[in-house]
Amino acid sequence: MGHILTFVILFLVSMMVPCISNPVSFYKLSLQWPPSACSSGKMKCPNPLPPPYNQMLTIHGIWPQDVNDEPLDPYDPLHPCTPVPPPDRKNLRTLLKPIYQQLNTYWPDLKNPLDTFANEIFWGHEWDFHGKCSDYPTDPLKYFDSAVKIRVGLPDFGLKSGDKKTAGQVITLVSGFVHATPEIACNRNITTRVIQLWEIRLCYGRPSPQGLIQHIRDCPSKFTGSCKNAQNTVTIP
Ligand SMILES: *[C@@H]1O[C@H](CO)[C@@H](O)[C@H](O)[C@H]1NC(C)=O
Repeated sequence: MGHILTFVILFLVSMMVPCISNPVSFYKLSLQWPPSACSSGKMKCPNPLPPPYNQMLTIHGIWPQDVNDEPLDPYDPLHPCTPVPPPDRKNLRTLLKPIYQQLNTYWPDLKNPLDTFANEIFWGHEWDFHGKCSDYPTDPLKYFDSAVKIRVGLPDFGLKSGDKKTAGQVITLVSGFVHATPEIACNRNITTRVIQLWEIRLCYGRPSPQGLIQHIRDCPSKFTGSCKNAQNTVTIP
């Protein structure tokens, strides 16, 4: 009797595994302005940053968010978000070969942007924390390619070192290009404490089966970090 009960329970548990609901609500593509990312004191970058990284937006990550606009928990082998284990980060170089060049250009590790080995470590971190529980747990190429394809299709929104804008003007500028409301993230120069435009984040709906992430939508919140409202003045270092 005990055996049958154990069997029934194991059977029910095994039935439940593929039913783990995927709590992805939408994706947030985070594009960083390197001189801001490098001057807040959180990261030590080459100074000055090698061109073109002193004047272009680079990819920070593309993050699956839940309905409350929180990032999903990272992959946990004890409570896997997906029935098939995702590929390990050490296989990324091989799996990402078709877009390796573009990844190095658009998704550099700003601490060492010209070092492909450093860049691979950054991608490995993004895969572990944000990719493995995305809609592409077994297909890192599609996950990374989604972000690269979007970035390649975007301008730098006319951002120029030395410019000063209100956070509201940045929103207007970006939404004029993408026809959706972005989220603006700001930080501060560690020495002068001036508010800087740090990241422009764009939000996307979940992909169709087999497809890439590509359907832009409004982000749930407009401002985060050191900018709180449309009136804040932000510098572009
Ligand atoms: C902070 O701003 C000053 C003045 O613009 C600049 O010289 C300095 O390099 C910035 N700090 C860092 C850590 O980049």
